[in-house]
Amino acid sequence: MPRWLSSLLLALSLLGSLFAQTEPLTQQQVDTRVEKLLGQMTLDEKIGQMTQVAGGFSTGPEKPEALIRRGIDGSVLWLTDISEMNRLQHIAVEQTRMHIPILFGLDVIHGYRTIFPAPLAMAASWDPKIAQSAQAVAAKEARADGFAWTFAPMVDIARDPRWGRIVEGAGEDPFLGAAMARAQVKGFQGDGTDLSNPDHVLACVKHFAGYGGADGGRDYDSSYISDDLMWNVYLPPFKAAVDAGVGSLMSAYMDLNDVPATGNRWLMHDVLREAWGFQGFVVSDAFAIDSLVKHGYARDRLDAAYKAVNAGVNMDMASGTYAENLAKLVQQGRISTADIDTMVRPILAAKIRLGLFEHPYAPLNSKEVASDPRSAQLARTAAQRSMVLLRNEGSLLPLPKSGKYSSIAVVGPLADAGDDQLSMWGHIGQPNPGVSVLQGLRNKLGTSVRIEYSKGPNINREFPSFFQEALHMHADPKQTPEEAKKAFDDAVATANRNDLVIMVLGEGAIMNAEAASRASLTLVGQQEQLLEAVVATGKPVVLVLINARPVNLTWSSQHVPAILEAWVPGQEGGNAVADLLFGDAVPGGKLPITWPRSEGQIPIYYAHNLTQAPETDPNFTSRYWDVSSFPQYPFGYGLSYTTFAYSNLKVSNTNPKIGDTFEVTADVQNTGSSAGDTVAQLYIHQQAGSASRPMRQLKGFERITLAPGEKKTVHFTLGKDELTYWSPSLHKWAEEPEQFDVWVGEDSTAKLHSNFKLTQ
Ligand code: NOJ
Repeated sequence: MPRWLSSLLLALSLLGSLFAQTEPLTQQQVDTRVEKLLGQMTLDEKIGQMTQVAGGFSTGPEKPEALIRRGIDGSVLWLTDISEMNRLQHIAVEQTRMHIPILFGLDVIHGYRTIFPAPLAMAASWDPKIAQSAQAVAAKEARADGFAWTFAPMVDIARDPRWGRIVEGAGEDPFLGAAMARAQVKGFQGDGTDLSNPDHVLACVKHFAGYGGADGGRDYDSSYISDDLMWNVYLPPFKAAVDAGVGSLMSAYMDLNDVPATGNRWLMHDVLREAWGFQGFVVSDAFAIDSLVKHGYARDRLDAAYKAVNAGVNMDMASGTYAENLAKLVQQGRISTADIDTMVRPILAAKIRLGLFEHPYAPLNSKEVASDPRSAQLARTAAQRSMVLLRNEGSLLPLPKSGKYSSIAVVGPLADAGDDQLSMWGHIGQPNPGVSVLQGLRNKLGTSVRIEYSKGPNINREFPSFFQEALHMHADPKQTPEEAKKAFDDAVATANRNDLVIMVLGEGAIMNAEAASRASLTLVGQQEQLLEAVVATGKPVVLVLINARPVNLTWSSQHVPAILEAWVPGQEGGNAVADLLFGDAVPGGKLPITWPRSEGQIPIYYAHNLTQAPETDPNFTSRYWDVSSFPQYPFGYGLSYTTFAYSNLKVSNTNPKIGDTFEVTADVQNTGSSAGDTVAQLYIHQQAGSASRPMRQLKGFERITLAPGEKKTVHFTLGKDELTYWSPSLHKWAEEPEQFDVWVGEDSTAKLHSNFKLTQ
């Protein structure tokens, strides 16, 4: 086609988007259109819709264009050359028999251009509303460049910080995880009724299910998870996403109790479709259908295609197994054309609901969309709200902006590493650069305070990262021992000649997310030694951590006066750190994971069962004899610049009947002299029943801001949803007539306590 004609067509389609249909389609209208298309499609064209082709890091011999011309145009992923996307779309829409548009998908996990804090950090805000707003911005920016589908939210419960992907989810708790899952789905899809709106994208909840339970925290390794834990811990965030109307779901890579998730019919048929009534479509994780052979579960690729389709996977991500084998399976009579139709229907329905038939081309204006100053401001506020103050001895923080410290040393490998604040996934779209902590401090202090920077020795992975090259991520060059020593000495000398030291330590972007597990939780490289040497100078030290998971703070938590966990804070991370350190914002984030003292304590999580020999038993103790069994910092923990008192816990009905709903209230007062946030957290414990229940379970939370002296009553509701659990001895959901404890307070060790008794 001549270039002028394609430009004209593009202009016309953009003009068309100005007249986007106002009334969302009804289910019936969608169904009618799906059936009409299906009625005209050949078997190969249907299988084409069930195939997702790798655009960017393409691995197969055939390029996407050739496949699309053959009608294999279900979806394309990993293509970030956005003009190429529109070109391929023209081929699909104008030069194939059925004219079905391509659905382009990408991992927009915590931002496309405007990069927000990574999901674990967002969970630490305990503020689902801000997570929703952030994903709404991400949706708008991604859609502007033609990505109508994001592979998010990732809602895998993770209780092992060695697992690199712990950063992509909301941490260890199913209640907090469900709240963050729901919020993100709404952020991406709006209320779900109008996906054709250019502000929305189709969400894809992943990885179904149990991926976070990988043996030893090794990415992709098998998970062995009891039914009890599946229903009560790992599945609730997925259920919350499904209830919020998530349009698609991704099957996980790993073996789940010896049946790989991507071939697991119990998961995708019995649970997802039968029990939960999921109406969307399932895409496999990348190459996961082919991997059924590698797992030793499928004999060959033909068998893998059969097992995946039979389990309920509608779309094959990148492995080509469906395209190669589904027609053969139909010819052999192992699957019917009706089965294929069932698989294709929700894919076509999604394309129709997304309005792709009417508006297949992208305006390619994400840069303009992202220039809205409110987006960067939201990223900054989100980063402020997600950071957790772990320690503040002698109220070193907040720092005065002038007077006391006329010079500051900023030290450490993460201090001037804005791009490391974006995480691995933050690099996949068209990210804005990250504002480093050094830059953020300079922005805050201008020339009023002298700032001197020294990086210290480089940090690196022992084994390289595939994603480093693929996503153009920064990696420190290897240093000789002499170079590293020089850098170390320079950092200590820099600390020595300034009044205060801000150390920024942690992990780079190549060290987190996929294929980035660690065996050790110590600070990478020589950072611990550097920290100890800097503290030994006697200068006051503030430690800022930029990292994707808890690290070993055994020494620091006794010797470093102030520690701020900044996580992977996104593009505005440096500004947000400066805001918090200098009191322009007050820390109020809380840990969404239990912080271990060392790797030996893993798995460690607050909602464990009681033992007959707790830590306090002098004889038959379950504790280690070399280290406490208590964590370094408990789940839900985080300090502020002020203090709060919790009192007056009331249960509106101490003898509720099964099925009743009742209220728990408590008073919270700011007892300090500055305004601040706390997260009021409600925990319960069922004292006996048909199964042992965790010693505490989060069942309510609310983040509140209080002025000095201000008092507020927080209200929580308890009822069937909070008090029912899946009982392994009854093999069903149960709400039992038992005695319960209830606590309200500012972390999972809350002391303010009351009781109630459920009755028949
Ligand atoms: C593999 C990852 O496990 C998954 O999270 C991601 O969405 C896909 N690749 C696509 O990039």
